[in-house]
Amino acid sequence: MTDDSIIKSQEQYAEELFEQDEALEQVLASIREKGMPEISIAAGYGRLLTLLVRLTGGQDALEIGALGGYSGICLARGLQPGGRLVSLELKREYAELAHANLTQAGFGELVEYRVGEALDHLSALEQEGRRFDLFFIDADKGNYPNYLEWAIKLAKPGALVVGDNTFMRGKTINPEQKGNAVTRMRQFNEQIARDPRLEGVMLPAYDGLAIARVK
Ligand code: DHB
Ligand code: MG
Repeated sequence: MTDDSIIKSQEQYAEELFEQDEALEQVLASIREKGMPEISIAAGYGRLLTLLVRLTGGQDALEIGALGGYSGICLARGLQPGGRLVSLELKREYAELAHANLTQAGFGELVEYRVGEALDHLSALEQEGRRFDLFFIDADKGNYPNYLEWAIKLAKPGALVVGDNTFMRGKTINPEQKGNAVTRMRQFNEQIARDPRLEGVMLPAYDGLAIARVK
C-alpha cells in the first residue's frame, strides 16, 4: 500500500468503529439533494467538536460557516442545557437548510443564524458584548487569520478555537501554491503553532484540523 492509501484505510477503520449517525446522514443527504458542495467536516472531527464543546462547559459556541448544519449539530450536541450556538453563514439558502436540519435534530431553539459577511457579524457580536467558549472556523480560507483575531477578542478565558481544512487538500504543503487563500492559511497555521496568546495543536488527519486554547 502507498502511504496515502494507508492513511485513507486508517481513517475508514476509525470511522467504522462508530455507529451510523442518522441525524448526520440526513444532513449529508439533504446537501446532496440540493446540489450544495459536499464538504461537511469529517465525521471524526465532528465527534471531536461535540467533545470539545462539552469539555469547555458547553455554554456559548460560535461557528463561522454553517453549510448544511453538520458541524452545527455536532456543536449543539455538546452544549449544556441553556447553552447556545451562534452560526454565521454567508448564504441565506445554506443557513435555511442548516436551520431546518438542526430543527429536525432537536436543536432548532438553541441556534441563532446570522446571514451575511462574517466579519460584520463578528464586529456586531463584540458590540453586543457576546463572548464564547468555543469557536469553529470553517468558512472562506483567506479570512482565517482575521477570524482568529476575532475569536481571540471574543474569547472567554480559556476558550478554544478550532479551524477546519488547514491542509487545503495538499495546497498548504505545496510551495508552488502561492495564492491568497493558501498563503493566509499558512499564516493561520503558524499562528496556531507560535502565537504567544495561544496554546495550539495541529491534527494531520483528514484535511487537517487546528485546535488552540486562548491563554
Ligand atoms: C473544502 C472542504 C471544506 O471542508 C471546506 O470548508 C472548504 C473547502 C474542499 O474540500 O474544497
Ligand atoms: Mg471545512
